[in-house]
Amino acid sequence: MNDNLKGKHFITLQDWTKEEIDTLLETSFDLKKKFASGIETEYLKNQTIFLMFFEQSTRTRNSMEAGITQLGGHAHFLDTSTMQITHGEIAKDTASILSRYGHAIACRNCFWEIGNNYLNDLAKWSTVPIISMQCDLYHPLQAIADLMTIKEKIGVLEKKKISIIWAYATSHKKPISVPLSQVLLFTRFGMDVTLAYPEGYKLPDWVMDNARENAEKSGGSVSITHDQDEAYQDAYVVIPKNWGNWVTNPDKDVVDELLESNKNWKCTEEKMALARKDVIYMHALPADRGNEVEDSVIDGHHSVVYDEAENRLHTAKAVMTLTMQGK
Ligand code: CP
Repeated sequence: MNDNLKGKHFITLQDWTKEEIDTLLETSFDLKKKFASGIETEYLKNQTIFLMFFEQSTRTRNSMEAGITQLGGHAHFLDTSTMQITHGEIAKDTASILSRYGHAIACRNCFWEIGNNYLNDLAKWSTVPIISMQCDLYHPLQAIADLMTIKEKIGVLEKKKISIIWAYATSHKKPISVPLSQVLLFTRFGMDVTLAYPEGYKLPDWVMDNARENAEKSGGSVSITHDQDEAYQDAYVVIPKNWGNWVTNPDKDVVDELLESNKNWKCTEEKMALARKDVIYMHALPADRGNEVEDSVIDGHHSVVYDEAENRLHTAKAVMTLTMQGK
């Protein structure tokens, strides 16, 4: 076991070296194999992790809770609306106190221009690792599970076209953290990343600058298009998913004129036919079925969404195993 990562925060994979991410992937694959074989993995016996949620979750909460149990530890689910945070308790006090009670603090706070600052504030005062369960900018647990899934499905990553494609949705104004984390991570692994979105849905300029630097170092590439068809064309992997126009319009309203004018940004069988025959369809879930994607695609033979969601368990366990103190 690589002990160098003990105590390391997991707020963005940008703070993890390529070698550290490779260790994370190797640990995830090892834990997945052991889970399938029924081999016990009590690396975090009697350890406690606090899971602070400012928002709803299905996958993140349950992969972390099931994961820590399988590692021999225990999670406290904390709905922050029931904590003293609602009476103004600051991150310093919350982090300092929970640090004394347990072995890691995980938090989801996606409020625009607040979430990432809140997580970094926790990290400043915590004496145990802070694990992001998604903020306004990053969703590292999703990105690492996605990378694991892509490795499983297509093998060699270098020079493979992967398209992250904006899609229409009305369910809620989704954070930019999933596409942002994916663009930054996949460009570190030599992939040819295409980011496709209608005008108005850009990611921050610094993200694209970093992605270009990553691609230059890894031998991959990154490009932006406003043409859906170009993104699907010959892709090995497509990830059509909605995100909000936070960068150009920080209003919380879900539906606006811009959104409604882009209803045609939907993943259909027709679009999928433009990609390679063996293309895989991915989505972090929950999907806005009928808007982001046709049922026949998400339930069809190109879709790997349940394998992708399963890998949230194995990667979450790897993050906890590597960063928490253990035996
Ligand atoms: N993909 C994801 O983070 O799912 P949840 O919002 O259900 O945790």
